[in-house]
Parts: sequence; C-alpha cells; structure tokens
Amino acid sequence: MHYKPNESRYQNMEYRRCGNSGLKLPAISLGLWHNFGHIDKLDNARNILRLAFDSGITHFDLANNYGPPAGSAEENFGKIFKDDFIPYRDELIISSKAGWGMWPGPYGDWGSKKYLVASLDQSLKRMGLEYVDIFYHHRPDPETPLEETMTALDLLVRQGKALYVGISSYQPEEAAMAISILKQLGTPCLIHQPKYSMFERWVENGLLDVLDTTGVGCIPFSPLAQGLLTNKYLKGIPLDSRASSHRGNGAIDEDQVSEEKVNKVRQLNVLAEARGQNLAQMALAWILKDKRITSVLIGVSRPEQVTDSIRCLENYSFTNEELNKINAILK
Ligand SMILES: NC(=O)c1ccc[n+]([C@@H]2O[C@H](COP(=O)([O-])OP(=O)(O)OC[C@H]3O[C@@H](n4cnc5c(N)ncnc54)[C@H](OP(=O)(O)O)[C@@H]3O)[C@@H](O)[C@H]2O)c1
Repeated sequence: MHYKPNESRYQNMEYRRCGNSGLKLPAISLGLWHNFGHIDKLDNARNILRLAFDSGITHFDLANNYGPPAGSAEENFGKIFKDDFIPYRDELIISSKAGWGMWPGPYGDWGSKKYLVASLDQSLKRMGLEYVDIFYHHRPDPETPLEETMTALDLLVRQGKALYVGISSYQPEEAAMAISILKQLGTPCLIHQPKYSMFERWVENGLLDVLDTTGVGCIPFSPLAQGLLTNKYLKGIPLDSRASSHRGNGAIDEDQVSEEKVNKVRQLNVLAEARGQNLAQMALAWILKDKRITSVLIGVSRPEQVTDSIRCLENYSFTNEELNKINAILK
C-alpha cells in the first residue's frame, strides 16, 4: 500500500543539537543491525521504518556489514527507501559505516583509504542513495595510521558522498586524536557512536568529557544491552527473542542471559515500575538524562517496540535517590 506519513510526525519527538554542529538528531534513532537482513521479513522491516518515521524518528543507522548476510540490511533499506521514502529524503539522516570485514583479501576490512572509499561506494549502490548523511569509521584500526583513515573520511565529504563523518568505538585518547586530525583537515567530526548502557559504562570514564570539550555529539548503541535491559528475560528466554534466535554477528546468545544479570534486571524492573515506566523505557531514559547525549540508538524486532521505547521521553529525569539505587544494583 502507498505510504503516506503521519502529518503530525514532528509534534512529539525531541530533537537535540549534535555537538557544536548545525545538525539536530531525534532523541531516539533507529538502527538496522538486526531484523533488516535477507533472513528477516521485509514487510516487518517496512512497518518498523514507517512507524519510526511517523513517530518523528528521522535518523536511520546502517553499516556495510548489517544483515545477515552482510550488506543485506542496506539492500533491504534501499528497496523500502525507493518505495516509501524517496519524497522524504531531505527529512532523513541516513548513516552507514565501514570498519569490519566485508570482502576477501587485504582491502576489505579495517581502516585503509582503499577500503573506506570502496566500501562507501558499495553502500551507496546497495541503498540507492547519492550520498549518506553520516559516514563512520566503525572501529579503530591498530595498524593503519589514523591520519590515513581520517583523510579518507575527509575525502568522502569533499567528494559529496557523505555530508558529515563520525567514529565508532574509539577509546577517549584515540577519539581525541581523530577529532583533532579531522578538525585540521577542515571536516569536523560530527559524532561518536559508542556502546553504552546501564551494563556497559566505559564512556563515563573520559569519553563523554572528550566529546563535550571538543563539541562532538554522542549516539550510544545497544542501550538495552540487546534486550537484556527489558522485562523479556525475567521468566526465561522467549523463543522469538534475540538471545534465542542464534543470529550470529555479535548478537547475544543464551549463556549471556546469566542468573546474575537477570537478578539485577529484576531489581531494576521494580525501580522502573515505581517510576511509572517499564524497564526498557527506564534504561533509555537513564541514558538520555545526560545532556551530552545527542540521541540514543535503539534496535527493534517489531513495530510495537518503537512505540513502547519512545515513551521513555515522557520522563528522563531521575532523583539522586533513584540514581543511587540504580548504582547500587549495578555494582
Ligand atoms: N557502532 C557499532 O559498532 C554498533 C554495534 C552494535 C549496534 N550498533 C547500532 O545500534 C543499534 C541498536 O543496537 P541494538 O539492536 O543492540 O540495541 P538495543 O536497543 O540494545 O537492543 C535491541 C533489542 O532489544 C529488544 N527491544 C527493543 N525495544 C524493546 C522494548 N521496548 N521492549 C522489549 N524489548 C525491546 C529487541 O529484542 P528482540 O529482538 O529479542 O525482540 C531488540 O531487538 C543497531 O541497530 C546499530 O545501528 C552499532
């Protein structure tokens, strides 16, 4: 059926400025790492994207390797984009990344200029786009000089294939160096994409300060620890959950749903209910409470999760007492 977006889509979403840039991002962005590949149902993917856009989510995050198979999330996104979103291209921020293994031989992985330039060309073809809004280096490369990787990002902006660039999973010191090189090149780093959740708090030890002082935005990924920080695993592992579906490609598997984790989740769930939220909403709110966070990057397996998660925006302030209780549980 022909897609006509909700006319009031901008009424309930909050948009936050990304660092010192001119760009604003929705407080909630949608990632296509899982549930958008060739192994998944295209109609479900389409319904998720439509509902997200209808809810004011203007940012869709992809990468060359999303699927499985690698590349297929970009292909499926390209199909849906062509059918539904072409008229709305200027209302969308679409990102992609390169940094993980994509093709055989020495030029299909990590951070060389050769790899990044070829990979973005492939991504643009798969998605049927002329340019991406944000192109990321997906993970630091210990062997390629940082200057080469950053020069490749700068080149892609100058070629008009990306409007902005970002880095992902860089530690504070290497992030500071990358940000400084990009600044010298005249293509400021827009954003950093780190893993951050109640269960994974490394960004609090320096990275958020680096981003704050250099005016770079921050968009945390896996904010629900891939679904652990929801109420879904309290009574075992549901068959249709990510932990049971053996998707590979870095997804959680059953042994990560440990009794110790579930115990903490149970206690967090009680706190969330006392705040009038469910645990997924509290876990997202807990990230958005920090003004240094531009947007929180969620993943969903079905449209209802978009509607559910977005309700975190109804309350993302925490009392000190609540924060202390959360810290005590997470210790
Ligand atoms: N830069 C990087 O290296 C990197 C790495 C990983 C991810 N990312 C990005 O971050 C995005 C998000 O990552 P993620 O998918 O791991 O995020 P996440 O939000 O931590 O986990 C998503 C999963 O949580 C469950 N879920 C979501 N909303 C829920 C709700 N309201 N109630 C109950 N369960 C809910 C679903 O699990 P079920 O499937 O079990 O329903 C969903 O698949 C990715 O799509 C990608 O764009 C980037």
